[in-house]
Amino acid sequence: MQFFRTPPSSFTRPLGLVALVVLAGVQARLAGAQPSAPPSTLTVQVDQPGARIPDTLFGLFFEDVNFGADGGLYPERVKNRSFEFPDPLMGWKQLDAGSSRGTVQVLEQGVSDDSGNVHYLRLQAGSRGQTLGISNEGFRGIGVEKGAEYIFSVRARHVNGEPVRLRVELIGAGGSSLGRATLEDITPAWETHTATLRATGRDAQASLNLRVEGSGALDLDLVSLYPKDTWRDRKNGLRPDLVRLLKDMKPGFLRFPGGCIVEGRRLDTRYQWKTTLGDPDERRLIVNRWNSEFRHRPAPDYYQSFGLGYFEYFQLSEDIGAEPLPILNCGMACQFNSGELAPLDELDTYIQDALDLVEFANGPVASEWGGKRAAMGHPKPFKLKMIGIGNEQWGPQYIERYREFARVLKAKHPEIALISSAGPSPSGEQFDYLWARLRELKADIVDEHYYMAPKWFRDNAGRYDSYPRNGPKVFAGEYASQSVGIASPNNRNNWEGALSEAAFVTGLERNADIVQMTSYAPLFGHVDAWQWTPNLIWFDNLRSYGTPNYYVQKLFSANRGTKLLPVRLDGSAKNGAGDLFTSASLDEAAGEVILKVVNVTPAAREVRVRLAGAKNVRKKGQAFVLANSDPKAENSLDEPMKVAPVAQPFEAATGEFTYRLLPNSLTVLRVGVAGGRVRR
Ligand code: AHR
Repeated sequence: MQFFRTPPSSFTRPLGLVALVVLAGVQARLAGAQPSAPPSTLTVQVDQPGARIPDTLFGLFFEDVNFGADGGLYPERVKNRSFEFPDPLMGWKQLDAGSSRGTVQVLEQGVSDDSGNVHYLRLQAGSRGQTLGISNEGFRGIGVEKGAEYIFSVRARHVNGEPVRLRVELIGAGGSSLGRATLEDITPAWETHTATLRATGRDAQASLNLRVEGSGALDLDLVSLYPKDTWRDRKNGLRPDLVRLLKDMKPGFLRFPGGCIVEGRRLDTRYQWKTTLGDPDERRLIVNRWNSEFRHRPAPDYYQSFGLGYFEYFQLSEDIGAEPLPILNCGMACQFNSGELAPLDELDTYIQDALDLVEFANGPVASEWGGKRAAMGHPKPFKLKMIGIGNEQWGPQYIERYREFARVLKAKHPEIALISSAGPSPSGEQFDYLWARLRELKADIVDEHYYMAPKWFRDNAGRYDSYPRNGPKVFAGEYASQSVGIASPNNRNNWEGALSEAAFVTGLERNADIVQMTSYAPLFGHVDAWQWTPNLIWFDNLRSYGTPNYYVQKLFSANRGTKLLPVRLDGSAKNGAGDLFTSASLDEAAGEVILKVVNVTPAAREVRVRLAGAKNVRKKGQAFVLANSDPKAENSLDEPMKVAPVAQPFEAATGEFTYRLLPNSLTVLRVGVAGGRVRR
């Protein structure tokens, strides 16, 4: 397998990472077939609740990779809708090109420098009786649901010739019409014209045709086809099935906008949150850094329109009950690309961006940036509590820049926790260097990343058992098991990887006194337009599904509990060393003990569970079981629930019972104690 993600010679991705995760092949089984083992005893010390589990323990990492924003969560159907791509007709094609005598031209309008909308299209139809048309291909097609309504809109003006009409038509992949409308009365003044199209059929790969009827010319701009059905029925709203999947995870936080996209390949293409506010029509698009990152997965049509910008992000966080966690550029472009640095004496702009972001999120309406938030429809603050300084940076250059950010931010906003970077690898010289410096600087929370083999996750479930308890807390900010190797296009979201992550997550949870936040990465992948795999959620233009990894995350997050409970496996507190992995917590509001057990063997296992010190144990408990005997099992658009949790009641007796764990399984047991109620 080729490791395509080559850093420039001056920056070397820490060797440990590459060496560890580039695997010869996928292991056929999680562990060799074993004879059934004698029952292990799991003792949960219910009367010894420990540290409080942070609400942020399980969260989400969003990055606009794999068409996660445009073409994904942001449901605008028209690509390059205002002809601003460097190739201004990318995504568009002329209809009947051979026969039509008209012309199609992209022109520039005199607008202010900060406008994101400079270009428009002129369609000059030929002689009477002929039509001139163009067609938009959408994002690997346009998805339309039968019976659903789509709002077509366009800025248009009549330029010359006789009055002309604009015919708008949805065309299915097979060529049939799926709905049409005609816009008349187009005057010489720029005006927005709208029409509602109700789709007469279902198609994930439709296209949108626009035809000028009559002999004359029309100018067109800001072409849009937007589904009426959006999350919370919002204008410029998000795709509901994808938001639902996020909300169902009960995420503690939402990291945004990444990821390397924060950094840009060069500093001028870094993510700049201020340019993502205001009227979506005016937001200036930039190239998406994943457009050309991987030679094996080029995406020349991948741009960031910022229709999903920072306001929409804060709103989404609020909607799904997640703390916002914006990650800001710290004056460093991606170190896997140019590694361009903003000189230390020119960091002010970057630091000011951070200060202004706090004001945008939390400031009073009377403040400059709080006022902009209010003008966009959210006078109340977004309650921002933390910010990431840089993404996956490393080296002394990072520490120098982090120090400057921390100095200013801590003085002005001591209430905001700062997330700092431990680099791209979970161990090695750079990692140790960063941790040592960040410890000296008394950093709040350090972000660790691990894109490693499934086995690494099983072998490292005890990683945090011996981490120092004083000093910075840990954010496992990006992780995912790589079935083949990091960023290999052959990686799969299979059950082996997900179950290995589950084993590891028991260790994250058991150490929730130090591990404050965790998130799988990346979040989304369009099945026809991805660059990076594996991903938590896959979708096409109409459907979506959670991977086995998604259901692991969901089970942990939805069954988090509020306090840690000590759990011993066969008398030892050091669990996770063999093939059973456990963690336990107390959900004080529900009055329930929650025990998670991961069995990574291909054999069923009986365990004897003891809820030591538990009072008033409810006889019936509730189990949630995620299992599959095939480590290669995957979910898909057609079989979205092949690996999905099953709820089953079980007998909890008086707090001591035997439970049979399925082969290759994650089991969550909830038992009511001390008068608590049992979930049904
Ligand atoms: O999640 C994909 C990428 O992996 C992220 O953009 C980056 O932070 C990491 O290298």
